[in-house]
Amino acid sequence: MHNNGATAIAIDGPAAAGKTVVGNKLAKKIGYRFLDTGMMYRAATVVALDAQADFNDIDSLLDAVEQFEIEARSGANGETLILINGKDITSSLRSHDVDSQVSAVAAIARVREIMVAAQRKLAADGGIVMVGRDIGTVVLQDARPKIYLTANLETRAKRRFLEMKDLPEHPPLEEILTAMRMRDKIDSSREASPLRPAYDAVIVETDNMTVEEVVHRLCELVNGVTS
Ligand code: CDP
Repeated sequence: MHNNGATAIAIDGPAAAGKTVVGNKLAKKIGYRFLDTGMMYRAATVVALDAQADFNDIDSLLDAVEQFEIEARSGANGETLILINGKDITSSLRSHDVDSQVSAVAAIARVREIMVAAQRKLAADGGIVMVGRDIGTVVLQDARPKIYLTANLETRAKRRFLEMKDLPEHPPLEEILTAMRMRDKIDSSREASPLRPAYDAVIVETDNMTVEEVVHRLCELVNGVTS
């Protein structure tokens, strides 16, 4: 498939809607780079956890986050890798601890300013599929198409459960569901760039769709704006 026009594609949506897997596959199909911005907020959370910052105190969190240089790169499969002060820490980003704390860190306006500036820099040359919560509404307002990927809470919690079930410490479904409900709530009610579809986003409900079906639908949408 050829993509002759769009330079940035935004995919937003709640936790475990499939943004990462679908966004990466779409990027490969159309020869674009891929950036999972959630990994950057996760990295900030790892830094704060390692520094034993006080999660109820914004200054303590910011002190920790601002001390480190967080760099996002593409891996061999197009996946997002994160380096902190030059060290690859990607494998520590998807722990249950990070899952439960990341929304508190991502709600801090100054943390968002730092991340958004870095994300815009990475998108400056175009040819990128960027996934997150605020890509279409804030980070890349000129992105085309803007896609809002979603599914109901139970479907998303089950998907995350299946993803995690082979890990040594895998939480029960109920725990994942509760943490996800909480994360959805914080993400969509925060003051700084809350999670919501951009007014010009196409909403794709993925409850009864396979990954391949979603990728196919997204390709149609990309073709629609570029042909
Ligand atoms: O993979 P999953 O959808 O569970 O989460 P993620 O995309 O890795 O994002 C983790 C958290 O980072 C989200 O719950 C948000 O709190 C935050 N985030 C954000 O605020 N803005 C973004 N552009 C991306 C993630």
